[in-house]
Amino acid sequence: MKTELIVILSQRELDKMRQAGRLAAKLLQHLEPLVKPGVSTLQLNDEAERWTQAQGAKSAPLGYKGYPKSICTSVNEVICHGIPNAKQILKEGDIINIDVTPIVDGYHGDTSKTFLVGTPSPTAKKLVEVTQKCLSLGIAEVKPGGRIGDIGAAIQEYAEAQGFSVVRDFVGHGISNIFHTAPDVPHYGTRDKGKRLRPGMVFTIEPMINEGSYEVEMLNDGWTAVTRDRKLSAQFEHTLAVTEDGVEILTLP
Ligand code: MF3
Ligand code: CO
Ligand code: CO
Repeated sequence: MKTELIVILSQRELDKMRQAGRLAAKLLQHLEPLVKPGVSTLQLNDEAERWTQAQGAKSAPLGYKGYPKSICTSVNEVICHGIPNAKQILKEGDIINIDVTPIVDGYHGDTSKTFLVGTPSPTAKKLVEVTQKCLSLGIAEVKPGGRIGDIGAAIQEYAEAQGFSVVRDFVGHGISNIFHTAPDVPHYGTRDKGKRLRPGMVFTIEPMINEGSYEVEMLNDGWTAVTRDRKLSAQFEHTLAVTEDGVEILTLP
């Protein structure tokens, strides 16, 4: 549990977050056409790294707490932090979350989407659509005077009503010139609980929604989190700022 204070960003810092967020969104947009059967997750990683450097930015994940690659690529039963690998080739019917975090002028833009490879099963497609809507419903709760618990409650209500489960072990996070800081932003919870939202707070919402149970298992590489039942998991993420009258999504192209 993080005990740091929640930082309120200045206008100058918010401008830097906007630049980083926009670059992150553009990077996902750049990678999207490469997501096809036959491509390896390492190829996606290497193109992300090349493009990021060409924009004069850096990849936050590379070397972060020893993480070995520039992006995370989480396929099918992988919940998050999948490590790109030359031997992992996308195939028809897969789903893949690509999570990118470029650093621009010291500030982080963190965003991810789950892409369909060809035509996945109806269940896979529904899981991805529900997860995207979970992110939207969470974002809709963000406004001054609202509370962190409102976000998780909105996400959990919808995900469970659709027959899916919400991962507990990974949460959204404050972000600025630090990759992961206060507040924690759970994707489950109770309305009217948790820290109050104030203009200038910046954090991610990044629901991980599972087809089966929400239980997590860690692989021996120390990073890859998979569903314990090996059923599918999907995720979408945006970086957001609380504004005077609501919310600004920073990770839009
Ligand atoms: N981008 C991830 C997040 O949303 C964090 C990845 S950390 C890494 O918080 F080390 F795995 F890259
Ligand atoms: Co994040
Ligand atoms: Co991320």
